Amino acid sequence: MRAADFLIIGSGVAGLRAAIALAPAGRVVVLTKADPAESNTGYAQGGIAAAVGDDDSPELHAADTVRAGDGLCDESAVRVLVGEGPAYVRELLEWGTRFDRDARGRPALGREAAHSVRRVLHAGDATGREIGRVLWNLVAGLRGVEIVAHALVTRLIVDGPHVVGASFVDPDGTSHEIHAKATLLATGGAGQVFRETTNPGVATGDGIALAYHAGAGVADLEFVQFHPTALNLPGVPRFLISEALRGEGARLVNCHREAFMSRFHPDADLAPRDIVARSIMREADSTGGDIFLTLAHLDPTYVVERFPTIADMCRRVGLDLARDPIPVGPAAHYIMGGVYTDGWGRTSRPGLYAAGEVACTGVHGANRLASNSLLEGLVFGARAAIAMQSPAGGGDFTPAKGWRLRDRYDPGAPASRHQPLASEEVRDLMWR
Ligand code: SIN
Repeated sequence: MRAADFLIIGSGVAGLRAAIALAPAGRVVVLTKADPAESNTGYAQGGIAAAVGDDDSPELHAADTVRAGDGLCDESAVRVLVGEGPAYVRELLEWGTRFDRDARGRPALGREAAHSVRRVLHAGDATGREIGRVLWNLVAGLRGVEIVAHALVTRLIVDGPHVVGASFVDPDGTSHEIHAKATLLATGGAGQVFRETTNPGVATGDGIALAYHAGAGVADLEFVQFHPTALNLPGVPRFLISEALRGEGARLVNCHREAFMSRFHPDADLAPRDIVARSIMREADSTGGDIFLTLAHLDPTYVVERFPTIADMCRRVGLDLARDPIPVGPAAHYIMGGVYTDGWGRTSRPGLYAAGEVACTGVHGANRLASNSLLEGLVFGARAAIAMQSPAGGGDFTPAKGWRLRDRYDPGAPASRHQPLASEEVRDLMWR
């Protein structure tokens, strides 16, 4: 049996940002089930949204987030995200993150669907990889942070109501236990539950299952976001074709090469992601043909320079991103629900915290605004680390208004985080 002060399960942006904050306060162990850099973070293309532009404000960012979330966001969580976000992004800049710059040398701001202004900082079309690089470099230099790779966590260790660590299996199949005063789930999403997904193989929903089996509350698991534009070629992985392309003018067309999104929403190609995904399915059904993204009306040099990773991926499958119609379709991308937490990452079990995609703070409502996920990982990873260092976890779990662990499941009620299932009740429903 090993012991640490702080145990972090997962090594994406939320886990790494928490590790950086926790390192001065005690011994930190990070368990990661694959190679350290393999997480959804590294696959994030579009960028990180933050209200840093002259025409922007946290209030405007909040309004866009709530509108995209179908009005089902927890507005206090949204205020935290958009209010604290810019400071965490500035910190990334100070740490050497190489975001693209505009002519004045300031971070260039991209546009994505459902944002009313340009607010997405980006590093080409591989922003997650760049942020991951910076966070990893920092973590690697921290004494007192131990990374254990290829550690598959099988169970959280529970002592009464408290979570006190985790069991994991190493690549030889040997089991280990590690005890900690505070354990953070930062295990990312669950896209691999679906056949069509943009997520890497590690996104198997482990954190939600671990928390649920330890008796922590989970919420909003039905809120799964399908990204509208994954590459749709038979036999080829569903590679993400970033929404940032539509932000720069790319258009969706049907099999007759007609643009159709304005028939479904006034914002046309820049409508919220859930609306675009559903519209694509409806248009494909009604025309009986595939849907494509076209950039042929844009400057080809700009397209290839701005989106080098996507252009390269298209080239490998015989497509010219700047010229050819690119076949696209929806694929599971992000789960808005997860382990229910308050604004400090505290779950309903003392000693257990969650941050990033595995958590459900309610910040995304029913549909996440593009490029809010890296921001979520930074802000709530750092906040969970603050709570983990405080005596007694920084206070009691304070669920949002309307949430009670003993709420009864009502099949007639509208699906929203205000009717979450306590894990005991999920268990009842599953095994009845
Ligand atoms: C994209 O680049 O389209 C994805 C970004 C995100 O999911 O926020």
